[in-house]
Amino acid sequence: MQIHTTIESLRKARRVAGKVAFVPTMGNLHAGHITLMREAGARADAVIASIFVNRLQFGPGEDFNKYPRTLEADCEKLEAAGVAHLFAPDERLMYPEPQLYHVDPAPAQIGILEGEFRPGHFRGVATVVLKLLNIVQPDLALFGKKDYQQLMVLSNMVRQLALPVEVLPGETVRAESGLALSSRNGYLSTQELAEAPRLYRELVQICEAVRAGDHDFLKLEMAAMAHLRTHGWKPDYITVRRRIDLQPPSHERDPLVVLAAARLGQTRLIDNIEI
Ligand code: PAJ
Repeated sequence: MQIHTTIESLRKARRVAGKVAFVPTMGNLHAGHITLMREAGARADAVIASIFVNRLQFGPGEDFNKYPRTLEADCEKLEAAGVAHLFAPDERLMYPEPQLYHVDPAPAQIGILEGEFRPGHFRGVATVVLKLLNIVQPDLALFGKKDYQQLMVLSNMVRQLALPVEVLPGETVRAESGLALSSRNGYLSTQELAEAPRLYRELVQICEAVRAGDHDFLKLEMAAMAHLRTHGWKPDYITVRRRIDLQPPSHERDPLVVLAAARLGQTRLIDNIEI
């Protein structure tokens, strides 16, 4: 695997790489990321991954400084997954001057769910992903459903701005316990790690109830949040939404997804499942 720390070197490699699939990450790679890399590899001549912890998408009280940076171990995993190129820019390369131009996703998309609890987050995500897409110029870009709203925001950005790239979603990869893999799971204590799969179990319960015909979403959401609270969680939201735009369901036949965000100790976890 070639590691590129300049745009020139990456672009030169890209030009002769044929059909390229791109998987942007913030590093500290786990099996969720690696599954995306392998799916990318199955659909293109070469996979380009990026690792960049993007300051713009972290709020003032968030974990930018303590976000795990594990470049050496990440490189070994990427290499083993057959990734041809890693773009690993430093901050001076991505933001050599204050970023004065941003992508502002529509308020209807970012005023809800993660956007409501993390103001500015999706603006930071969309801005860095547009910049990365412009640098890499891939044919395909893969994003995980684990970050469901992020996938929606980025798919809409690509469509609305007519970016010449195809977005492919990847299924959420979970531990055997059901816990969705996440770099932030590393913040959990042993005790919290044992408790963490409850978030997924609550989502499964709602999913099963809705599939069985219970459409009293509010009751189901309230019950799940109450369960979490009695086990020491601080839920931000658990909510059934329509998949298409993550707004409240309006029609019986809307394809649905149930999404959750909750704090366990100092760690904020998110998860979702399609119903
Ligand atoms: P990061 O959290 O590192 O995730 C990189 C990609 O891996 C994202 O598309 C994310 O949805 C996917 N991913 C994470 N956990 C997953 C899991 N358990 N199963 C499947 N896919 C999973 O998301 C970001 O980085 C950043 O916001 C980024 C898009 C790189 C912009 O900075």
